[in-house]
Amino acid sequence: MSKSKLSRREFTKLSSLAGIGAAIGLGVTPSVFAGTISEKDLPAILGGQKLVTREWPQWPIWNAATDEELVLKVLRSGVWSRAGVVTEFEKKWAETIGAKRALAVVNGTNALIASMVQLGIGGGDEVIVPPYTFIATIQAVLQTGAMPVFVDTDPETFQIDPNKIEEKITSRTRAILPVHILGLPADMQKIMAIARKYNLIVVEDACQAWLAEINHKKVGTFGNAGCFSFQNSKNIPIGEGGAIVSDDDAFMDRCYSYHNFGNPYGAMVGAVSAGSIMPGTKIRLTEYQAAIGLAQLKRLEEQTEKRNENAAYLKSKIEKIPGILPYKLTPDVTRAAFHLFPFRYKKEEFKGLSRQKFLKALEAEGIPASGGYTPLNKMPYLENVLKTKNYRLMYPPEMLNYEKYMERNQCPLNDQLCEEAVWFSHNMLLADKSDMDNIATAIERIQKNAEKIKAAE
Ligand SMILES: Cc1ncc(COP(=O)(O)O)c(C=O)c1O
Repeated sequence: MSKSKLSRREFTKLSSLAGIGAAIGLGVTPSVFAGTISEKDLPAILGGQKLVTREWPQWPIWNAATDEELVLKVLRSGVWSRAGVVTEFEKKWAETIGAKRALAVVNGTNALIASMVQLGIGGGDEVIVPPYTFIATIQAVLQTGAMPVFVDTDPETFQIDPNKIEEKITSRTRAILPVHILGLPADMQKIMAIARKYNLIVVEDACQAWLAEINHKKVGTFGNAGCFSFQNSKNIPIGEGGAIVSDDDAFMDRCYSYHNFGNPYGAMVGAVSAGSIMPGTKIRLTEYQAAIGLAQLKRLEEQTEKRNENAAYLKSKIEKIPGILPYKLTPDVTRAAFHLFPFRYKKEEFKGLSRQKFLKALEAEGIPASGGYTPLNKMPYLENVLKTKNYRLMYPPEMLNYEKYMERNQCPLNDQLCEEAVWFSHNMLLADKSDMDNIATAIERIQKNAEKIKAAE
């Protein structure tokens, strides 16, 4: 299996286990070139000494001494369905993010669906989305019956380009769904200004952006709702889990009712004992999941700090290498979450060495890396959703013409970004500064020997 074919989750799992280099055959005959390059500079893929020999920090982290007490208490209590521990986790999460309320749910995908549905987004509406995100973002829009409209990515920030949003707004546009992808904040100042101008709802997909900030305000608190994921690969891992945050009490009461079969909650009251009062589903978090979440939450702040320090250091080193273009943060970003550390790889500066070969050369050095996302505006699910019974009922035929849809949703800069991106996963940013130095040295080594690596196909 080539690494560029690995899903993000598989990549994270592998990189946090034994290192991707151990998992993938390199298909290159080394040593042929030994002797022509000084031993110090010889890349591992050509038979030189691997730069990183110890394992990268494991993920997720579990510390029996500090983490198990509450989990065991919950397990032994027999109270496993939603109760006090979930409520405690919600309180702590709201406090952490700086929102009035939080609701824990089964995962980030359902946090997004619940938020959109309870903000009135549904069939016949258009929702502005980025193509550079995890598939869950777009699938959540489709689950509401709304039509995703893609806005191209700013390749420098890896985020939705706010300057291209207005040209995609129509009379059907109901909401903007910015994603703080890779844990780097989207440009919320500009996005909120557009939303105010056109009276649009904003649901922030902060599923990769726990504790990221713009002007010291946490992402997830700018729009009508913010959604988070606590899936296993995430910076706060629970296995599965998610949360909605908002300051809007009426909206949060509706979300609570919806997540519990439409039963009355807060302002959502009905006649006494009349039962369920609105359409709903069941997406409640369990007590033992919340207990794991409370344990993980304790280290999030310190880990986020370390990721920021290492990311800034690594960036300062590798941005000097021609052909390596690390992410840019907008000037108002006071902190990022760094679920991933991204840069663009320009093969022209590496004698035309393909990204795939570059990734393999990094793996050989003991440095796992991934090529990241493929364009989400070009996958078969979109053509198929336009053919479904519900979409045929909800939209006029011209909106269901797939060729026209594709034409309207082209994102050329995103296409190019998907060819050039390289990611390191967040657990690597928990390593030492010397490990960041090794990454930079590895890239320099590969660049110096790009021609020879290319020839060793
Ligand atoms: C950007 C983004 N949005 C949404 C989700 C959905 O979260 P979950 O996997 O918890 O459903 C994820 C995570 O997987 C994500 O990375």
